[in-house]
Amino acid sequence: MQEAVKIDSGRFQLNRLSPEQHVDSLEEDVYTGLLSRPRSLPPKYFYDERGSKLFDQICQTDEYYLTRAESALLKKHADEIVSTVRPTAIVEYGSGTSEKTELLIQAANQHYDWLHYLPLDVCEEILIESSRRLLDRYPWLSIDAWHGDFLQDMQLFNNSHTRSLYTFLGSSLGNFSYDEASQFLRDVRNTANDDDWFLLGIDLVKDHSILNAAYNDIEGYTAAFNLNLLDVLNQALDGDFNTEKFEHHAFFDIDNSRVEMRLRSCCRQTVTLRDIDLKIEFEDGEHITTEYSRKYTADSIRQLLTSTGFSPEHVYTGDNNEFMLILSRCLKKR
Ligand SMILES: C[S@@+](CC[C@H](N)C(=O)[O-])C[C@H]1O[C@@H](n2cnc3c(N)ncnc32)[C@H](O)[C@@H]1O
Repeated sequence: MQEAVKIDSGRFQLNRLSPEQHVDSLEEDVYTGLLSRPRSLPPKYFYDERGSKLFDQICQTDEYYLTRAESALLKKHADEIVSTVRPTAIVEYGSGTSEKTELLIQAANQHYDWLHYLPLDVCEEILIESSRRLLDRYPWLSIDAWHGDFLQDMQLFNNSHTRSLYTFLGSSLGNFSYDEASQFLRDVRNTANDDDWFLLGIDLVKDHSILNAAYNDIEGYTAAFNLNLLDVLNQALDGDFNTEKFEHHAFFDIDNSRVEMRLRSCCRQTVTLRDIDLKIEFEDGEHITTEYSRKYTADSIRQLLTSTGFSPEHVYTGDNNEFMLILSRCLKKR
């Protein structure tokens, strides 16, 4: 099911890929994730309106270097990226506040006074808020926003523009398992045309103390973001999770080259989700895995891109090799 709403005299269109799907898939994910061992939930449920705001606060903490490093690379190279691609449209998966993409939009404005921006995000509130901000600042922009899930709804997403720049920033690819990452990249490639480009922002393996600190900021925004997931479940499924009886736990898992984020039960307890008639018994210390953030090497990410239909052409890293932006051409579809 797909619904389109036009706002601001047609300069902004909001497309809802499937309005009911969020709750349907939440129920299914709760059953499969919370009843299996170890228990887990997909990270997309972090992002209700409060979760999106908390993520924005995480991005501003001293410890979360990812946003600063990626923004610095975009500030330095946005003009070169836009001059290389000359896009008529920028498509962004998991757009969030669109603040980094704004650097590409500004750079595009040096070359022409029109551009289509197609952000896709699972959080409708952040899509509307950031689209409004961009339209206020760039009256020549037209925005076709897509509310949906980039893992499930890719085939419903529709881009009729030629020469598009597809973007996936914030190292969100790191949230996927290797198989999910391959499938996601193949889906992006299949959605794109042969003369489109793909810009990926990805975090790199580094000193473990830096990684551990990034997901355990001293002000507690990451802990609040993680615990907010329980409030999302309480609200959506009439649950009685007590956020004071769970604690945030995040650590770098060397063997799997990923940060794992968990919610750990502080005692033996039973939680009920009344809407789906589900009771979950937690042992003291038992955890729910809420997010993986895989860290790549320059070689591993290049290999993954090449094996999924892309040809990496320009690689940008800062002086300290913290983070990487990779601008790839789409390899011709066979
Ligand atoms: C880590 S944030 C990155 C935001 C932004 N791209 C940045 O770099 O700052 C992830 C974003 O992806 C969105 N998101 C997470 N899972 C998603 C999914 N399965 N489908 C669509 N959007 C998703 C979230 O709502 C959030 O805005």
